Amino acid sequence: MAKFLVQKSGPLEGDVTISGSKNAVLPIMAAALLTEDKCVINDAPALRDVDVMCRLLESLGASVNKNLECNTVEIEACGELTWEAPFDLVKMMRASILVLGALIVRTGRATIPLPGGCAIGKRPVELHLKGLKALGVRIDEDQLARGIVDASADKLEGSIIYLDFPSVGATEVIMMTAAMAEGTTAIENAAQEPEIVDLANFLNKMGARIKGAGTDTIKIDGVDSMKGVSHHVIPDRIEAGTFMVAAAITKGSILIRNVVPDHLKAVIAKLRECGVVIQMTDEGVLVRGDVNEMISTDIKTLPYPGFPTDMQSPFMSLLTVAKGPSVVIETVFENRFMHVGEFNRMGANIKTDGNCAIIPGDKELQGAQVVATDLRAGAAVVLAGLVAEGTTEISQIYHIDRGYENFVEKLRTLGANIMRVDEL
Ligand code: EPU
Repeated sequence: MAKFLVQKSGPLEGDVTISGSKNAVLPIMAAALLTEDKCVINDAPALRDVDVMCRLLESLGASVNKNLECNTVEIEACGELTWEAPFDLVKMMRASILVLGALIVRTGRATIPLPGGCAIGKRPVELHLKGLKALGVRIDEDQLARGIVDASADKLEGSIIYLDFPSVGATEVIMMTAAMAEGTTAIENAAQEPEIVDLANFLNKMGARIKGAGTDTIKIDGVDSMKGVSHHVIPDRIEAGTFMVAAAITKGSILIRNVVPDHLKAVIAKLRECGVVIQMTDEGVLVRGDVNEMISTDIKTLPYPGFPTDMQSPFMSLLTVAKGPSVVIETVFENRFMHVGEFNRMGANIKTDGNCAIIPGDKELQGAQVVATDLRAGAAVVLAGLVAEGTTEISQIYHIDRGYENFVEKLRTLGANIMRVDEL
């Protein structure tokens, strides 16, 4: 198993170009199943999750031509598709559930085995299913009790769907299904993430009639057919936020290119509270951790436009070394503090109580053997390793490969002392 070795590094300096968004490209790839025409997706990041989605779409009968060196994926789902998603792919990537809606539209059926809980929470899908049922989809309850979503429909009809929580995945699956249902659908308390807007833009280019994406109510007038299109995926706001923290924690100065600052309002506001100087320039966002001393702040994760849960662990790395204590409250996932144990191995002395973490701050971290417990937690311990004395050895880095394109190369270009080693 490969590992990262990270040594204390000086201030990170230079510029970095952000890749296309993982969480935008995955639903867009699933949505390409809605047409028999070819869709060309540009700025698709070369990531393990994108690779798994390519294999999943192929296993369902689509022809997929990926050239991730050029960051393009072409998907052509002409002909018959199978409705059964194989467990060996689904268990590798929870986002496999995103094919649910498009498969029902195309084949009238979808069976997807659920992988169960993961390191950050239980990850149920009852909101996806509630929405689909409202559109006329039958769910086999016996199969569901065995952990298999077996969904079928003869006819899809628009409906009003209220989501008890603004789930990103549920909003995406319902949007894809309703796009080709008869009549009008309204999703109330919909997720408002930029990735939802990108999916709606992609679907609208294909011929869908979706309004209100990015607000809490999305209205969808169903259409009969969709056509192939070409699309550029939005930049990855979580990758951008991670590099912002890298500049802050190392007291460096990084120009972040290919970023939409509006997607990062909460993260930028919180970094400024810590003393980071952030300037919008014509070329990108200049993030300077070399101007002021870093001071503590409190954060509470929320659905967009609140502070993103995916930035909670990377931001916590900064709070471990900032001056003064901080409180972090996680409200989106019920178990997203696995990284706390890893930070504590490095001397952070964080205490948790339920969904609340208390970070004393002011710590001089020490390198240690730590684990990337999930994708973002993995990035977080890399950031901590950049300022820790000695060597930080990070295992289970396949999590990081799922979501950060060329992470080591990008960090090394900025001056980070990090290398990937294959364990003997
Ligand atoms: N939830 C339910 N019932 C449901 C659906 C969700 O209770 O039917 C709960 C979840 O258990 C969780 C919360 O709602 O506690 C948020 O889940 P959501 O459905 O919004 O998340 P997701 O669609 O599974 C996406 C991202 C995650 C990101 C979350 C929240 C993708 C592929 N994944 O997941 O990204 O954390 O939204 O913003 O888009 C990551 O990139 O590291 C990552 C985990």
